[in-house]
Amino acid sequence: MKSIGVFDSGVGGLTVVKELIRQLPTENIVYFGDTARVPYGIKSRETVIRFSIENILFLLKQDVKLICVACNTVSSFALPVIKNHFRVPIVGVLSPGVREAVYATRSGRIGLIGTKGTIKSKAYEKEIKQLSPKAKVTAAACPLFVPFVEEGWLSGDVVASVAKTYLKPLKDAKVDTLILGCTHYPLLKPLIRKVMGPDVILIDSAKQVAMEVKDILSREDLLNKSGRGKHKFFVSDNPEWFSGLAQRFLGKPLKDVRRVNNA
Ligand code: DGL
Repeated sequence: MKSIGVFDSGVGGLTVVKELIRQLPTENIVYFGDTARVPYGIKSRETVIRFSIENILFLLKQDVKLICVACNTVSSFALPVIKNHFRVPIVGVLSPGVREAVYATRSGRIGLIGTKGTIKSKAYEKEIKQLSPKAKVTAAACPLFVPFVEEGWLSGDVVASVAKTYLKPLKDAKVDTLILGCTHYPLLKPLIRKVMGPDVILIDSAKQVAMEVKDILSREDLLNKSGRGKHKFFVSDNPEWFSGLAQRFLGKPLKDVRRVNNA
């Protein structure tokens, strides 16, 4: 039985895996986290494209029927370039989040937060404008959020003060919808909600991504209709570190994480 392949620069993509398991419990999943080369968010476009191709080639060797790019930086920088070079369907995290944000906003003022690479690529803005030309997008890179989440600093004075500083331009722009454009940010939702206020809609695309995967598999008649899916986890370095963080991102511990050389 073929699997759904998922990759991310590291551990963050497990937020997408969590939702895939919830919506598609009968599917096998093979996850690859490029923990040897994380973070991608500060790397150049060329490098992110090269790493992404290597990750896809690794997943293709695992007999996958669809690849889900569970990393916003890869979805922004690399997906438009690599998508058409492989026969297997490739789903990113950008379009599902954009569609939800455009649908949710009332004022047309949409905020976006992500890594430096995601913000620099302007990929979100382009796609938002395509769907809603009048939308006004205010974007901010929040590079310190990733290490805070990985260290488990999800609340407290220090991270709250950083969040206030990062989110000020979005508050000033009076956005009514905010895209959490990075795998790690859903874990900071309570804090971000506190800073932005209860009326701002926070978009975390994992749910929509899983729905899109389900739609494609159903359209292509590739859904696995019975049984319980098996889940395999590979990383390029530090399986113990990855396992330790899995509880936070996936909601359950992972015992069998294998180290591989994908490059
Ligand atoms: N996975 C990345 C993203 O969603 C965040 C971590 C990194 O910078 O590699 O953009």
